[in-house]
Amino acid sequence: MDQRPVGVMDSGLGGVSVLRTLVKELPQERFIYLGDTRNAPYGDKPEGEIRRLALLCAHRLLDRDIKALVVACNTATSAAAEALRRALPIPVIGMEPALKPAALAGRPGRVLVMATTATLRQKKFKALMARYGQRAILLPCPGLMEFAERGELDSPALDEYLRRRLAPLAGMQVGAAVLGCTHYVFLKEAIAKALPGAALFDGNLGTARQLRRVLERGDQLSPGPGGVRFMSTDPQGVQAMERMFALPGGV
Ligand code: DGL
Repeated sequence: MDQRPVGVMDSGLGGVSVLRTLVKELPQERFIYLGDTRNAPYGDKPEGEIRRLALLCAHRLLDRDIKALVVACNTATSAAAEALRRALPIPVIGMEPALKPAALAGRPGRVLVMATTATLRQKKFKALMARYGQRAILLPCPGLMEFAERGELDSPALDEYLRRRLAPLAGMQVGAAVLGCTHYVFLKEAIAKALPGAALFDGNLGTARQLRRVLERGDQLSPGPGGVRFMSTDPQGVQAMERMFALPGGV
């Protein structure tokens, strides 16, 4: 048993969608969430810069005596997971776009992968594509995470963004869509509306299960009581995180 907290990090608010699932699945754990709001978005940055920022965040959380780190960001995982595992003395749980479950779900037509530009160009994602990408179409979505950052989860501007971004797919049958950025999970309803007929896949539950396995293996599950604390690199950040964390509904 280990009562130390679990660290959770993202470039901003997106990882709060993961945190919601973590708390639901592991309510007895204490979580410390760090959003690097000042430096968001990561998805438009070069790999070395994302790695540098991710290491800084990880060390800030390590200073809080965390027992494990969840990188609740596909972009930071693809650019920095290896470096984080080398640098940290604790288990690191990363995320990758849920292409595997989407490809194996038996849905008809193509599998659309929506993610940041940085995630889609990384070696890690290319390896996933080589195994499960036969029917995949890749769609980098620069500018989309910003809607979630602004708390704009349902607006005409968001619908218009999605309409334009998805226009090149007109006439294609898309049976599955991967929300390959944790921010997009907050935009699920708008994305579902823009892609009628597509089942949506994200990695949040898989990540919670992986954290449970890792903690079980190390005999590190906490007996409770659980709880959540937020930190941000931007003075306004924490309030927005608390708001997103408290949203009604089942993200
Ligand atoms: N939430 C992040 C992800 O899962 C990235 C958003 C960004 O900073 O561009 O990829």
